[in-house]
Amino acid sequence: MSQNPLVRKTLRSRFETVKLMGSGGYGNTYLLGGGIRNRHRYSLARKTLRNRFEIVKHLGSGGSGDTYLAIDLDLPGQPHCVVKHFHPKDSNPAVLPIAKKLFDREAEVLYQLGNDHDQIPRLFAHFDEDGDFYLVQEFIDGHALTQEIIPGQRLSENTVLNLLKNILEVLAFVHQHNIIHRDIKPQNLMRRYSDQKIVLIDFGSIKKIGALGAGLTIAVGTPGYMPSEQAKGKPKLCSDIYAVGMIGIQALTGLIPEQLPEDPNTGEVIWRDKAEVSDALANILDTMVRDRYNQRYQSAIEALQALNSDVALSHYSQSADINHKADDTYLLTYRNFILLLGIGLGATTSLIVIVLIYTFINTGTSLPNQPTPLKSFLEKFVEFPLTNRNSQVVKSAANRGVFQNNFTIAKTTK
Ligand SMILES: Nc1ncnc2c1ncn2[C@@H]1O[C@H](COP(=O)(O)OP(=O)(O)O)[C@@H](O)[C@H]1O
Ligand SMILES: [Mg+2]
Repeated sequence: MSQNPLVRKTLRSRFETVKLMGSGGYGNTYLLGGGIRNRHRYSLARKTLRNRFEIVKHLGSGGSGDTYLAIDLDLPGQPHCVVKHFHPKDSNPAVLPIAKKLFDREAEVLYQLGNDHDQIPRLFAHFDEDGDFYLVQEFIDGHALTQEIIPGQRLSENTVLNLLKNILEVLAFVHQHNIIHRDIKPQNLMRRYSDQKIVLIDFGSIKKIGALGAGLTIAVGTPGYMPSEQAKGKPKLCSDIYAVGMIGIQALTGLIPEQLPEDPNTGEVIWRDKAEVSDALANILDTMVRDRYNQRYQSAIEALQALNSDVALSHYSQSADINHKADDTYLLTYRNFILLLGIGLGATTSLIVIVLIYTFINTGTSLPNQPTPLKSFLEKFVEFPLTNRNSQVVKSAANRGVFQNNFTIAKTTK
């Protein structure tokens, strides 16, 4: 087999693999050429595996092989699927059986987990043909998180919080099965277009706790997202937590892990001054990326719990504060309104009463020379000499030129 068998190979007369993008545990990832627009530049080379899976284009390459987009000719509508071709780059004979074991394990894990969790691709087939090994899995129509976490761009705390929760939710399921993914990074996390959920791909580096041969020490992972114990070939579940934490920090700072300095004394990542983030989330991220693995959250479940409680709590207390303030303002406004209403009503009532009394006193329906009903009522019960007082009041009003009409009436009623 050549080193990269599909580079400069044209698939379906449309897609030419022009560049090796990267290598994973089993194979390589290729950049695809211009497609239809450049059709004239490429020749047709269509390969169909098992008379069923027709290769459409190259998706990528890793250490263990190449990944292709294919169509399933057997199913109605010929849906897309993903074909991984086992093709290890390392020719070291000692590495080959390990790589093959990992390739087989990827199929096993997809079969075991993919059927039970919709954020993990399902396994469709795992076979060998003409001495080559293949794995066919569900195609996730979406984009990698590399398109959302872009160097130089800082994402908001809320976006990062949701992202972390989404990643940890699916990772918690993986961890519940005692499986370490070992290659959590933006390239291996896809945002599915149909429901915007995060799908975890590339189980080509997984390790089942206690499953890989005793005494075997191989470092699998990606620098920057790989903690020290994993680099030493001794990964733990919490090695994945380190990777998730680094993704969170990368998203908040806009800096790739290699750009983040380390404290020379403690070995911890220095990043807080490069992000706008609450203490609650920053503390959780710090715990996720602790250099010493026993100081981290031990699994995705623990990290998720911390995110759901601590950050939710701080958000709650912030919103409770805001609610208190809103309540206070509301009460104050309400009190003022009631007070003003009371004053207004009181004043209006008093005015009406005064006008009524005044009108009643001065415009009785009594005959001339007879006292008004109020006057006689008061004279009878209070024995108050109203006659003189009243005429004085009216007179003084008349002197000022006011209540002219009332004066006339008063005079006639005297
Ligand atoms: N199930 C899938 N659905 C859609 N694209 C996939 C799927 N699996 C892999 N890919 C694409 O192929 C690339 C390489 O596949 P991956 O499984 O990550 O292998 P490796 O990184 O080892 O080469 C991924 O980065 C992704 O772009
Ligand atoms: Mg990958």
